[in-house]
Amino acid sequence: MDLSLEMTSAELLQAQAHIWNYIFSFINSMSLKCAVQLGIPDIIKKHGNAMTLSELISALPIHPTKSHCVYRLMRILVHSGFFHRQKLSELDEEEGYVLTDASRLLLKDNPLSARPFLLGMLDPFMTKPWHYFSTWFQNDDPTSCATAHGTTFWDYGYHEPSFSHIFNDAMASDARLVTTVMSDECKGVFDGLESLVDVGGGTGTMAKAIADAFPQVECIVFDLSHVVLDLKGSKNLKYVGGDMFEAIPPADAVLLKIHLLSHE
Ligand SMILES: C[S@@+](CC[C@H](N)C(=O)[O-])C[C@H]1O[C@@H](n2cnc3c(N)ncnc32)[C@H](O)[C@@H]1O
Repeated sequence: MDLSLEMTSAELLQAQAHIWNYIFSFINSMSLKCAVQLGIPDIIKKHGNAMTLSELISALPIHPTKSHCVYRLMRILVHSGFFHRQKLSELDEEEGYVLTDASRLLLKDNPLSARPFLLGMLDPFMTKPWHYFSTWFQNDDPTSCATAHGTTFWDYGYHEPSFSHIFNDAMASDARLVTTVMSDECKGVFDGLESLVDVGGGTGTMAKAIADAFPQVECIVFDLSHVVLDLKGSKNLKYVGGDMFEAIPPADAVLLKIHLLSHE
């Protein structure tokens, strides 16, 4: 039976649009990555007011043969809320690009920038395992990372310091943002605590903020030895290396933030 005949043309097109939206949704994240790598949010911020397409093209570090493609990249990013188009002035019909809250959070010099998180999470090492998701379901590999790369995620970080750096920066940038919100909204959680261990605490951004805000709390950042190696603690913060699946240092409270739990 021809199933499409049971649907009206409108339903058929709606179903196709739904599928296409999912097929091409990666274009949103990859276009955003491209814009961030080209420094578009920073260039628009530096410009100071609404930036026309031709001004943007002249300021971009791109090959002249690609200039005509910038409009299409910006069109996607306006559609997905990373830039707005705004008239240059009341009297002017010409429009230029301005930042939105989301693109301001991707500026290099924003102390809470999500830029490192974006670049870390969209690194090809991180995205490749998704292509192996169904293969992973059919084999006995512990993770799709193992299927795609033949290594575990944390082992790769151990052997590839450059990736480890990108990943730890990504985690630290997220921790900076969460820490800011947490110190405003969740102060009470730390009342009465004398010690805390941040398990898988990365390079310690979160624990450092807690240690500074609550000097009475002894904080421990516990992470894999190669991650905390060479990191220096402070009066009420120390780094301990080890494997959380073997033992964790005792403390009044355990903090676990963003965990891709796998000991494989
Ligand atoms: C997703 S990151 C989260 C980092 C940090 N909590 C944050 O949110 O910014 C997970 C962390 O767990 C650490 N980790 C992975 N396996 C571990 C293990 N077996 N023992 C201790 N830490 C581990 C990684 O090195 C990494 O820093």
